[in-house]
Amino acid sequence: MARVLVTYYSRSGNTKKIAELVSDGLTALGVTVDLIPVEEVDIDSLPGYDGFIVGSPNYFGTIAWPVKKFIDESVKYYKKLEGKAAAAFTSEGIIGGGGDIVVLDILKTFLIHGCVVQGLTGIGHFGPVAVGKPDERIEKEVIILVERFSALLQKLQA
Ligand SMILES: Cc1cc2nc3c(=O)[nH]c(=O)nc-3n(C[C@H](O)[C@H](O)[C@H](O)COP(=O)(O)O)c2cc1C
Repeated sequence: MARVLVTYYSRSGNTKKIAELVSDGLTALGVTVDLIPVEEVDIDSLPGYDGFIVGSPNYFGTIAWPVKKFIDESVKYYKKLEGKAAAAFTSEGIIGGGGDIVVLDILKTFLIHGCVVQGLTGIGHFGPVAVGKPDERIEKEVIILVERFSALLQKLQA
């Protein structure tokens, strides 16, 4: 059974809420999920996962520093995470606040790690971007994201 790390930074709870939706959705699909605040992730656990879904609030058009710290520490396992699945999400304050860039900043780091990122059709291109508290639109996007992520995990494990 696939094991996925869902990790996030969240100060006022919006990004955490998306992380919980992602975790619940994946769990319902039979994926084993560790839902862990990014500050509490044991970096040495990374090679044990089949996939990573990472969320950060939009801070000045990019990721919040605790997420950047996690990413920078993950260099310890550079070339050891090849072929694992990755996805990302964010919460921002305003429409057009740069949320897509936040998601792409996270995805870029996992591409550099050699992970596999699937683009999304029918919803936001790169990953869920909530404006403030996640609403019905984000709930729907998360359902699609976890279905596609779960299918990707199965393909990668075949
Ligand atoms: C330091 C800081 C910088 C921010 N910069 C942006 C920004 O550039 N664009 C934007 O849309 N929202 C910005 N916001 C708003 C947050 O992204 C937004 O409130 C988000 O929902 C917070 O997520 P959280 O509840 O998970 O902490 C910023 C907030 C903070 C505290």
